[in-house]
Amino acid sequence: MTDHLTDHMTVPTTSLAPPDEAVGPLIRGLSVLRHLAAAGGRRSVSDLVRDVGLARSTVDRVLSTLAALGYARLDGQEAVLTPRVMELGNAYLAASRLPDVLGPPADRLADELDESVSLAVPDHDGVRFVHQAPRRRTMSVTFRAGDLIPAERAAPGALFAADWSHDDWLRWRDRRASDPGGPSFPIPLPRNDKAVASFEERAAEARRDGWALDDQMIEPGLVAVAMPVHDGARRPACAVSVVSHTTRHSARSLRESVVARLRSAVADMERTLASAEPAHRRPAAEAVRMRALKHELGPDFVESLARGLHVLTAFGPAGGGSAGGSALTALAQASGLARATVRRSLITLEHLGYVEALEGRLFRLTPRVLDFGFAALSRLTLPQIARRHLVWLTTQVHDSASMAVLAGDDIQYVARVAASRIMSMDITVGTRFPAYATSMGRVLLSGLPPAGRAAVVRRSRLSPLTSRTVTSPERLAALLDQAAQDGHVLVDQELEDGLRAIAVPVRDLAGNVVAAINVSMHADRRTEEEARAQVLPPLRTAAARIEADLHVAGRYLPISAG
Ligand code: PHB
Repeated sequence: MTDHLTDHMTVPTTSLAPPDEAVGPLIRGLSVLRHLAAAGGRRSVSDLVRDVGLARSTVDRVLSTLAALGYARLDGQEAVLTPRVMELGNAYLAASRLPDVLGPPADRLADELDESVSLAVPDHDGVRFVHQAPRRRTMSVTFRAGDLIPAERAAPGALFAADWSHDDWLRWRDRRASDPGGPSFPIPLPRNDKAVASFEERAAEARRDGWALDDQMIEPGLVAVAMPVHDGARRPACAVSVVSHTTRHSARSLRESVVARLRSAVADMERTLASAEPAHRRPAAEAVRMRALKHELGPDFVESLARGLHVLTAFGPAGGGSAGGSALTALAQASGLARATVRRSLITLEHLGYVEALEGRLFRLTPRVLDFGFAALSRLTLPQIARRHLVWLTTQVHDSASMAVLAGDDIQYVARVAASRIMSMDITVGTRFPAYATSMGRVLLSGLPPAGRAAVVRRSRLSPLTSRTVTSPERLAALLDQAAQDGHVLVDQELEDGLRAIAVPVRDLAGNVVAAINVSMHADRRTEEEARAQVLPPLRTAAARIEADLHVAGRYLPISAG
């Protein structure tokens, strides 16, 4: 599932001519971004030039602009999307209110039923997942927020198609004709002709019943039942699905056993959605930042691309985050951009299908915004996020940098960037050491609640690994308290003679310590004071950069530490 985005996949585009007021550079910039995302978030610039069919100089300027905004970078000959680009998808998810408002009840329902529960929205003739509460089971497919699959393959698709117009059905049939296997969708699913043949009938049944079943349309064994959740205006806002496996349920027995509970959960969700407060406003300093970038990059900065992307993010909490849509005035205020600029951006975004105009002069983001890198990067892990920041760190300190997480009472390395200097220890990803004798271990233990910290100290056999290893439980407990206060740990030759290391925590959005990073060095290289003075500042900078990426990527997705 990680490299499911293949080279040959097509990127749907609108075939209609742009309206007069549409902004050309924004159209071209978004095309580059979309193609880079469709290639999995990494593509050689020359291939990208071929994909998008634009001049090399245009693609270069767009990439410079995306890099200046922190959304992409160049890695040799390749353009790479960075986790920060996920803030565009986050803006849609925030504005839709769905994960924020309905995620918690979906999670509770999953706990109660002990089955996976997901939320999905219609996206043209596809089903787009916006929240997932998975149970760990032996299922080969798990969709994540951002994933898009053909409507005919999942239970929510039949529900959404129940409202399709004649034209929608024509478009669906066209797509089936031009794309019988569904490869224009980023996630390859085994072909299923039965799901296609029965789709119109299932849509009619869904209209009649108010629920829809998936009897192994995605893969053998996987069954699901879905029900629509309506917004205050009685339009379907999303569908909630309960997903199980034929080892526990047939599609029919799943429906029989959960439909009543699902119905009451949906009624609660509809009440919650109707009474949800709009998201809080966040003032935007972006307009100022954009002027500075324009100044810095000169003609390489495609200002109308930057502004268009900024308008997208203004829909999030800043634009009032209302699922009912945002007004031009609110978006201009939230973005700090002129009304006329916002208006032309909106016209362009609407033409491309990323914004829809509602009645009452309101605008709303569409789930298609998740194609700007959110879906492509949705499977990023914490070590993948950390890696380039650890590389940067080693260039600053010329010593090895690592990331580790707690595994029981041990630490386990999940990322390591070795400096060229040869160390006596051969540490690779997966290596474990006892937490009590390591800098990262003490950082991780100091991040535990006091009771958990005390339990590890009590449990661990504090054996002396060198003559310096702290083996007294009282002393270790005091060091962990100190670590919590200091926000860093220096361990001097307690794991191995001659090895000194300094570590800091990496925290998630909620402030929990989810990993530690360190720099390890030979004890001869620096005194303890020098290590603190020279290594701690760049170490803290690297941690802050990892956290910044993690907080964007992890806003709506659980980020795995392994
Ligand atoms: C899922 O959330 O993984 C899911 C939902 C509905 C389906 C199949 C899978 O029909």
